[in-house]
Amino acid sequence: MSLRKIPVQELSLEEAQKELISLAKELAQHDIAYYQNDAPLLADWEYDELKRRNEAIEKRFPQLIIANGPSFKVGASAAEGFSKVELKVPMLSLSNIFKEEDIFEFTDRIRRFLNLSSHDELDFVAEPKIDGLSFSARYENGVFVKGSTRGDGTIGEDITDNLQTIPDLPQKLIGKDIPELIEIRGEVYMRKSDFYELNKAQEQEGKRLFANPRNAAAGSLRQLDPKITAQRKLSLFAYTYGEVSQISWSSQQEFLALIKNWSIPISSEIKVCHTNEDLVNYYINMGQKRADLDYDIDGVVYKVNRLDYQKRLGFITRSPRWAIAHKFPAQQAQTRIKKIRIQVGRTGVFTPVADLEPINVGGVMVSHATLHNMDEIERKDIREGDTVIVQRAGDVIPQVVQVILDKRPINSQPFSFPTHCPECGSLVVREEDEAAHYCTGGLFCPKQVVERLKHFVSRDALDIEGLGKKNIETFFDWKWLNSPIDIFYLKEKHEQDLLNTEGWGHKSVSNLFDAIHKVQQNTPLDKFIFALGIHQIGQSTARLLAEHYETIENLMEEVQKETALEDLIHIDGIGQNTALDIIDFFKEPHNQEVVQSLTNLIHIEPFKSNKQKTSLTGKTIVFTGTLETMTRPEAKSLALAAGAKVSGSVSSKTDFVVLGQDAGSKASQAQKLGISILNEKDFRKMLEII
Ligand code: IVH
Repeated sequence: MSLRKIPVQELSLEEAQKELISLAKELAQHDIAYYQNDAPLLADWEYDELKRRNEAIEKRFPQLIIANGPSFKVGASAAEGFSKVELKVPMLSLSNIFKEEDIFEFTDRIRRFLNLSSHDELDFVAEPKIDGLSFSARYENGVFVKGSTRGDGTIGEDITDNLQTIPDLPQKLIGKDIPELIEIRGEVYMRKSDFYELNKAQEQEGKRLFANPRNAAAGSLRQLDPKITAQRKLSLFAYTYGEVSQISWSSQQEFLALIKNWSIPISSEIKVCHTNEDLVNYYINMGQKRADLDYDIDGVVYKVNRLDYQKRLGFITRSPRWAIAHKFPAQQAQTRIKKIRIQVGRTGVFTPVADLEPINVGGVMVSHATLHNMDEIERKDIREGDTVIVQRAGDVIPQVVQVILDKRPINSQPFSFPTHCPECGSLVVREEDEAAHYCTGGLFCPKQVVERLKHFVSRDALDIEGLGKKNIETFFDWKWLNSPIDIFYLKEKHEQDLLNTEGWGHKSVSNLFDAIHKVQQNTPLDKFIFALGIHQIGQSTARLLAEHYETIENLMEEVQKETALEDLIHIDGIGQNTALDIIDFFKEPHNQEVVQSLTNLIHIEPFKSNKQKTSLTGKTIVFTGTLETMTRPEAKSLALAAGAKVSGSVSSKTDFVVLGQDAGSKASQAQKLGISILNEKDFRKMLEII
């Protein structure tokens, strides 16, 4: 029997230890999926359940608590690519309660701690618990200077430029009693209406859909390019503060009124509650209002109003003793799975989907539920024909919570994942550390074709000018393009059609075919490999492969040999998983055929090593700001060609920071760390291209 099924009270010391270790591992993995990748693998309630079990075991066996384990963690470490911000006053989390009775326990505990009798006044501020992403905005002399995410609570990610794009956030505070220094903290969220608009646009552009407004907000805010953040409509509410030079308020209520006066948005649903009954009513009332609000809330928060009480109450490990989150239950219903179907995404990733007998869940008709991946199906033992409990999580994509085993048909069979893609018949693979299965028919699979084609012709790949994303989509819709091979038959088959098409003149048509012809005459091997869009093969890995194998013929021959794995992992910079991806790609007969045909159509220039050393060889470079004489991808590829490494963030390992126009915070960070700063001219000199 799996340990998780044994009631905590019955666990032996040894079992408890084993389970705490596995819970720590599992929760850490889910923290990364949720906080760093903005792509949770579990529904919130499932995560909460794991967390509660961890807490219950720790409570029974305090001697087994793992230092630095899940109960000490808030969120996940700052993601790569962002500069880090030190949070002198940590950004904490909240303890959760789920039942109304827990309110009484919470207020009793506080009264006991403060030595108050049941007659003494004890007010709470009740607020909606916004389902977004927490932020901290630092103001010095009333001017916004730095923005951060929560990160692990003490080191956040620098999102100054991104926060600056949110119209709700004042750049300058105006009003009374503005301290010299204050960090305003709260939640960035996406309005439900803006979320639906965004997903509509994503769908039209063939981009991935966000599962819910929270993921959309997180994915939009944590963009390395703040221009993308600026295009997304984000909103925010503030509810607390971090570092502050002087406190002129004596309660949460006064604090909120003050910042509202500074034009910082606060929720309009905040109420002061005097009694337990007030708190219960607030919870019930917000639960009813929830669906009508234009933002998602996943519960309410109760906070002791008086600041002096808050100070006395203090904190327990990761959350304040003076506040608690009261979560809403998930909205659930029972129905039957008619069929389990595999959906193939545009990158080849498979998502199993349950087709359900339609059912009303909290006012919305539901006929499909996502099953995420095979692990999820196995963990819950979900089968076709099963009666299941489904719920709407984050209010959008329904999920299967649990199978009602008593109602399972006698002849039911465990679900087995297809070994071949339902769209194109190519082999399906799954990597050791990955939950997802995906189709290896990259260049062949119809579900992936458009995205693959766009990648194939993109600037860093074959760079076919005049064949942008829009044209790829149009030509695909017209059935002119179905594989990269078709690009090279466009002239022969469709030149006349194109000339007859509105918007295409002689000049643009001949420019397009010239660009295609140019690529056919000469394409560097590394660009060709990158263009194939092999899972995990970015520009630098493509270059490593080109350097190692020198010709496409050699590469194709070698990676199909039995010794391929050993050979590949000996290349510095290629790990086992990447090596397996390369082997899987070339193992697939459809891909072999496409690559073979392409080699007959394109002259692929064998790789010439230009390993002569420049002063950039072996150095780590960070680019910031806009360069004048070259684009960022160009600069990056020149640096790589000179044998340098290019990184997205400044750290002690950085050797040079190349500064363009309107450089952001990376420049000052480089200065602080004493890293050499180059202008564009210096950089060109070092490349020896002046
Ligand atoms: S107070 C020390 N108030 O919920 C005070 N948090 O699950 C900490 N949240 O980390 C936070 N709405 O990101 C507070 N009205 C609200 C909130 C709120 C949403 C988030 C916040 C927090 C998380 C805890």
